[in-house]
Amino acid sequence: MRIDFGGRHAIVTGGVNGIGKAIALALATANARVTIFDLDRESPQELGKSLGGNGIAVDITNRASLEAAFALVPEIDILAANAGTAIGGTVFDATQESWDRTIAINLTGVFQSIQFAARLMKPRRRGSIVITASTNSYDGEENLIAYNATKAGVLGILHTAANELGPYGIRVNSINPGLIRTRLTDQYFNDPEYLKPYFQGIPLGRGGQPEEVAAAAVFLVSEQASYITGASLVVDGGQLTSKFATWKEPQSKFEDGKWKLASD
Ligand SMILES: NC(=O)c1ccc[n+]([C@@H]2O[C@H](COP(=O)([O-])OP(=O)(O)OC[C@H]3O[C@@H](n4cnc5c(N)ncnc54)[C@H](O)[C@@H]3O)[C@@H](O)[C@H]2O)c1
Repeated sequence: MRIDFGGRHAIVTGGVNGIGKAIALALATANARVTIFDLDRESPQELGKSLGGNGIAVDITNRASLEAAFALVPEIDILAANAGTAIGGTVFDATQESWDRTIAINLTGVFQSIQFAARLMKPRRRGSIVITASTNSYDGEENLIAYNATKAGVLGILHTAANELGPYGIRVNSINPGLIRTRLTDQYFNDPEYLKPYFQGIPLGRGGQPEEVAAAAVFLVSEQASYITGASLVVDGGQLTSKFATWKEPQSKFEDGKWKLASD
């Protein structure tokens, strides 16, 4: 199965780093014309140009700037609504500021991106959107109350958008990554004390790489997924299937940042 976007135009929000960057690279490799939307301080033009596409400095929480950015790219076939943040905070201590900021980026920013993209896609009667949700759309990982609320919330956007946009030939799906190594999570990947118990609950015994998430996103926005809309593709090494620890000592060992069978 070879995916070739044949010059179709894709916008990737939060495309300068981590999962978004991997999606942008994978799309460009499959011959999409990629425009990266990211914050000014991340110099999205630089990466966009290096991919043979473009970059626009825009804060997705700023509705007027976002609308202006979409107006610069009148033809859009694919949107990866990926930009997001994670700010720690519990039910007891999350601040109003951290709550508002998380909602603004992860929920309102995603909604606005999809709204503007859908308006451009509708008259063309085609388009494909992928939202970067999370395994936290389903679980209640501690100290992430605002993050978890937004990632559950984007599934509401997903289902409604898939329902409303389907008649116009526009598909909407989500990727739901588990723990993926990016700058958001690098602190954990450098801490074996944290990783050992965490990865015990992951059947594949390790965390994921951005490219492994990007492959799922590229599939969902491609013609290979032509009958898939409103779906969520979990990319978590099996974490959500594991109610209790998959890996146990002494049958297993934690080595080089991952769990393996003691006999291997
Ligand atoms: N890393 C993980 O383990 C993981 C797991 C599940 C879901 N996710 C989700 O994946 C997405 C990407 O996260 P990542 O881990 O690659 O993080 P990252 O920090 O490496 O990348 C996020 C990108 O979004 C951009 N961004 C943030 N706020 C923005 C705004 N207001 N306007 C425009 N751009 C903005 C950042 O500048 C950055 O380039 C997020 O939605 C995140 O919630 C990540």
